[in-house]
Amino acid sequence: MDRSLQQVEMDKIVSLCKRRGFIFQSSEIYGGLASTYDYGPLGIELKRNIRDSWWKRFIQDRDDMVGLESAILMHPQVWVASGHADTFTDPLVECKKCNQRYRADHVDSKDCPDCDGQLTDPRSFNLMFKTFIGPVEDSASQAYLRPETAQGIFVNFQNVLVATRKRLPFGIGQIGKSFRNEITTGNFTFRTREFEQMEIEYFVKPGTDQEWHRRWMDDFMTWFTDLGVRPDRLRLRAHADEELSHYSRATSDIEYSFAWGWGELMGIANRTDFDLKAHSSHSGNRLEYFDDETHEHLVPYVVEPALGVDRALLVFLFDSYDEETVEGDTRVVLHLHPSLAPVKVAVLPLSRNERLAPKAREVYDMVRASFVAQYDDAQSIGRRYRRQDEIGTPLAVTVDFKTVEEDNAVTIRDRDTMQQARVPIPDLLPELAARLGR
Ligand code: GAP
Repeated sequence: MDRSLQQVEMDKIVSLCKRRGFIFQSSEIYGGLASTYDYGPLGIELKRNIRDSWWKRFIQDRDDMVGLESAILMHPQVWVASGHADTFTDPLVECKKCNQRYRADHVDSKDCPDCDGQLTDPRSFNLMFKTFIGPVEDSASQAYLRPETAQGIFVNFQNVLVATRKRLPFGIGQIGKSFRNEITTGNFTFRTREFEQMEIEYFVKPGTDQEWHRRWMDDFMTWFTDLGVRPDRLRLRAHADEELSHYSRATSDIEYSFAWGWGELMGIANRTDFDLKAHSSHSGNRLEYFDDETHEHLVPYVVEPALGVDRALLVFLFDSYDEETVEGDTRVVLHLHPSLAPVKVAVLPLSRNERLAPKAREVYDMVRASFVAQYDDAQSIGRRYRRQDEIGTPLAVTVDFKTVEEDNAVTIRDRDTMQQARVPIPDLLPELAARLGR
């Protein structure tokens, strides 16, 4: 597949997402809510496929991993112990003239970027969303929407250990929503206030943490490239000391080369024993592991690969998007990996015709029992191929007059090569499965 070397501009992705029903502005009929997005019919299929691929690769296919789904609301003490109540802040500056607010590290000078006003000195702004539990809004009922899924894993460490009898090294993974009252959002779904994370807390013996840190970076690089992301668009970047989060001994980001520059796709942090020790001392419950070999209790170290689902989805869209010139026309195509494509197979009668429709419907019913499929008989076959290319459907099955009158065979068209092959209907399902890598 010879794909364009140009990075894709954001407006092309935003427009495709709206036009074809991947992502919409939230509450659009009311003018939208800033930096908040809804996933449409195709977007949610793509999102589910990303989650499923992650869950299968990192939880189900491994003996050293288990899953968890903890609540978004947690005991407020969790955020005191974790350090978020005190240190999960960004430096906020405000324009003295127009009152516009910015993250101090996102502006270059003391002058306001949007007017000729002066900026205030930075003050710490906590990014956690506050809410109240129950009918009384006082400090005793105050709670937070979690800013990371990780803490739900740490506070369940002992529960999972006892229930599963796992031995070190082992990990707990979960997928779920997180919330951060980001001062500056932007680049579409890249940085939003409500987003979804896929996080792993991998517990290891102290001393083996650096080796595991390296292994998790490799495992995630391989996952992205296995799913078709171009290796030259990915890089690892180690955080400088002053960038490290309060809990981290070392963090490396996997970054993607967007049109606007390199952007963080995920972080892989060595959190040491910071969180388990903090929760042990704040809760009074010892979060420890008994080592059978040394007959000693120890507090495991933690390596944490943390990825945003929305950010991964954006990268898969950017990386697979292409525009090609075919017979004088522009063909927009998403070269999505078959396992990620929202629709796997399109079933298309050559034209809307009552001689073709019954057979085409029969083929569609057969195909959709095994694969997510779409039936489309509106407009010319060329237009319908383009519509499917644009949403990344890997295969299109065409039913024509020869199918009905002569050979009981259909044509399979490949999205990437546009090559067509004739396949007898009795062989269709195994052929589709083989082509989709099932
Ligand atoms: N538990 C560690 C943690 O949350 P993080 O680097 O703050 O680490 C991990 O977040 C990942 O979550 C990021 O690399 C990114 O993919 C995603 N993420 C974080 N903040 C986000 C936001 N405001 N919008 C979208 N995704 C975000």
